[in-house]
Amino acid sequence: MRFSDGFLSEIRDRVPISAVVGQRVTWDRKKTNAPRGDFWACCPFHGEKSPSFHCEDRKGRYHCFGCGVSGDHFRFLTDLDGMTFPEAVERIAEMAGVPMPARDAHEERREKERASLTDVMELATTFFEDRLQSADGARARAYLRDRGLTPATQQTFRLGFAPDSRNALKEFLASKGIEKLQMEACGLTVFEDVPVSYDRFRDRIMFPIPDSRGRIIAFGGRAMSAEVSAKYLNSPETELFHKGNVLYNFARARKALQKGGAVIAVEGYMDVIALAQAGLDNAVAPLGTALTENQLELLWRMSGEPVLCFDGDKAGLKAAYRAADMVLPLVAPGHTARFALLPEGKDPDDLVKAEGPEAFRAVLSEARPLSDLVWMRETSGGVFDTPERRAELEKTLRELTGRIKDESVRYHYQQEMRERVLSFFGNQRGRQQGQGDRGKGSFGKPGFGKGNERGQWNKGGGAAAGRLAVSESLARSAMVKRAGGIMPLREAALVVALVNHPSLIDENFDHVEKLDLSHGELRQLHSVLIDAMAHGEANTREGVVAAIERASCAEMWERAVALARRTRQWTALEDAALEDARDAFAQALHLHRSARTLHKELKQAEAALATDPTDENYRHLVEIQAQFHDVQATEALIEGFGVSSGRGGRN
Ligand code: UTP
Ligand code: MN
Repeated sequence: MRFSDGFLSEIRDRVPISAVVGQRVTWDRKKTNAPRGDFWACCPFHGEKSPSFHCEDRKGRYHCFGCGVSGDHFRFLTDLDGMTFPEAVERIAEMAGVPMPARDAHEERREKERASLTDVMELATTFFEDRLQSADGARARAYLRDRGLTPATQQTFRLGFAPDSRNALKEFLASKGIEKLQMEACGLTVFEDVPVSYDRFRDRIMFPIPDSRGRIIAFGGRAMSAEVSAKYLNSPETELFHKGNVLYNFARARKALQKGGAVIAVEGYMDVIALAQAGLDNAVAPLGTALTENQLELLWRMSGEPVLCFDGDKAGLKAAYRAADMVLPLVAPGHTARFALLPEGKDPDDLVKAEGPEAFRAVLSEARPLSDLVWMRETSGGVFDTPERRAELEKTLRELTGRIKDESVRYHYQQEMRERVLSFFGNQRGRQQGQGDRGKGSFGKPGFGKGNERGQWNKGGGAAAGRLAVSESLARSAMVKRAGGIMPLREAALVVALVNHPSLIDENFDHVEKLDLSHGELRQLHSVLIDAMAHGEANTREGVVAAIERASCAEMWERAVALARRTRQWTALEDAALEDARDAFAQALHLHRSARTLHKELKQAEAALATDPTDENYRHLVEIQAQFHDVQATEALIEGFGVSSGRGGRN
C-alpha cells in the first residue's frame, strides 16, 4: 500500500466530509442540520429533485438513499470527479494542510510513465485532428459530412483522420522526441513479428477514446469503405487502456447526467455521437464487446437504472438476454437496468437521423425492467401444458433469481416470479384431474402478447376445462405485466385523439363519458378530460393539455403520445386533419366498445362453463373467444416491446 492507514485517517479526520462534498452540491436548507454535522442535498451521482443524499461529518461518510452510493472523502472524489486514489489523497491532504509522505520510487516511476503515455496519446490526437483538416483529409471530411456530423460535433468528439501511410504518425511523433518504445506502449504502432514497426491506423476516421477525466487513452479507427476487412480497428490493450473498464463518452455523459435522467448504453461510437448531436448527451457505449461487469459498475456510478439499448432483431434480443444474465446477479436496491429494443435493423444513429430524437425517446419510454426480460425469455415460445412443464418453469425461474446476490432483491424477485407463474397458470389448479387432451394450445410468447392465434383454439377434441385453463391464462397474459404496464394501443389512440381534437369530445359526449378503459393511466387521463369538459376547459387542445399538466399527468400523456406516434396512429396526433381524426376515432371507438362488451361476455361464458361444464357452454365460449380474438388481434400483436416482427410500424 502506498499510504499508511495512519496518514489516511489523519487527513480524513482533519477535513469534515461536508467540506469536500459541499464543493459539489448545494445543501438543502430545510433538511440540513449543520451544527450537528448532518447535511442533506440532491444526490450528485444520480439525478433527483428532492434530497436523499446524506452526508454526516461525525462518521465522515456520505450515503444516498435514492441510488445507494456511499463512501468517504476519497471515494467521493474518485467516483464523482474521476480522480485517481492518489490524486484524491493529495487533494484532501492539501485541504488538511498536511504534507504528503515521500512516495515509493517504483510507483513514482510507473506513474511518470503513464503520464508520458497520455502525453503521447494527446500528441497523436492533435495529429489526427490536423490531418482531418489538411488536404489529404478531404475524403474523410466528405465522409463525415455524408454521415451528417456537423463540424462542431466533430470538434467536440475530437474526430480525426489517420492518413494512408505506414509512417506518417511515427515520423510526426519522432519529430516531437517520442521514442519508439513509447509509441509501441501506446498501441499506435504495430511492432510484433515485423522487422520495422509501422503505423497501426491507416486511412481511417479516428475516434479518440477519453478516460473518465477526458484524457485520451485509446482510439477507434473506422474504415471509410466497405471493402476494408475490419470496419473498426481499435487500440490494443495497453498500460492506459483496458477496454472492459472503459465506456465511450463516460466523462461527457456523467456531466450531462448531473442535471438528471438515466444513462443510456448503446452499441457504437457513431450512435453516441449522433445522439449527442441530437441533444442527448447521456449516452455511452462499450468498445466493441458485450457489456462487462466493470462497465455496468461505471453505469451505476452515473445512474441507478441505466437503459441498455439493443437492436430489435433476433440477435439484438439475444444480446439483451445475455446482458440480463450479466446484470441479474448484481442487482441491488436502487441498482438495476432497463432494456430498450430498437426497431429492427436500425441503430440509434439511423433512428435519430431518419426520425429525430423524439423517435429515440419513444423507444426509451418503452424500456422494460429486468424482471420482464427474465420472465419473457423463460416463457416466450414455451409450452406449459403439463404440471411437469410448469414445475420446470418454476424451477428455472427459482434458479435464475437465486443468483441475485442481494438478499432483499432476491426475495422480491422470487416473490414476483411466483406471482407471475400463479397469475398465469393459477386458474388451472384443481381442475386438471382426469381430463384427456388438454391445453394443446401453445402459450406462444406470453411476455410479448403474441401467440394467441385463433387457430389453436379449435385444435384437438379434448374436454372443455382444459381449454378453459389455457384461454384464461392467455387472456390474462397481458395483465401479468406489472402495474402501469404496456398501454393498450387502441385505448391510447382514443385518448390521444380526444386531447388533440377536443371537438370529438363534444361530438361523442355520451360515449366519451362512459368510455371504459382498462389501463390505469389512460383512465386517469380520461377523467382529467371529463373534468376539463365540465369546467369548460376542453374547447381547445391547449386547454386540455394545460389541465393534464395541472393534474400532474404530463408524463403519462407523453407516453400515450409516444405510443401513438411509434405505432403510426397519425390520425390521433395533433397535426391530423379533423376529418381524418374523426373517421379514425369513430372506427376505433366502435372496435373498442365491441371488444369491451365481448370481454365481459367472455368472462361470463368462462364463469358459466366453470360452474356448468356442458358441451353447449363450451361451444358458446369458443364462439365468443373467436370473436374476441378477432377484435383483439391487431392490438395483441403490437403489444409487448412493439417489435412484433415490424408490424408495429417502427421500421
Ligand atoms: P456497428 O457495426 O454497429 O457499427 O458496431 P456502428 O457503431 O453502427 O458504426 P457505423 O454506423 O457503421 O459507422 C458497433 C460497435 O462495435 C465495435 C465498434 O465499437 C462499433 O462502434 N466494432 C464494430 C468493432 O470494434 N469492430 C468492428 O469491426 C465493428
Ligand atoms: Mn451505425
